Amino acid sequence: MAARWCVSCHVPGPGMKLGSGTDVGPPFAQIAADPALTEQRLRGWLADPNPPMPNLNLSRAEIEDLIAYIRGLKPR
Ligand code: HEC
Repeated sequence: MAARWCVSCHVPGPGMKLGSGTDVGPPFAQIAADPALTEQRLRGWLADPNPPMPNLNLSRAEIEDLIAYIRGLKPR
């Protein structure tokens, strides 16, 4: 999944260990569970992230895939 771009800074899924970098970003499960982070907010963030997260120059389709992936981690 496209989440491989994110593993250097985020824990992308349950039971997954960090690939290389440090855990500077919040784990995706935590992002998914945060009611303040709506789909709209995520879309805006990924199109134009704020420091310290780098702008990854994602295409619109990539952003939609990532949002769908993060959504899938949301606890019900
Ligand atoms: C180089 C490190 C790095 C990479 C790579 C990275 N992030 Fe982040 N990300 C961060 C940091 C650091 C924060 C916390 C920013 C803050 O709290 O201001 C963050 C925060 C976030 C947030 C929360 C935004 C919010 O409003 O609180 C989301 C969502 C996110 N990242 C998604 C992603 C996705 C999806 C990818 C892969 C496409 C990715 N990140 C790749 C470092 C990174």
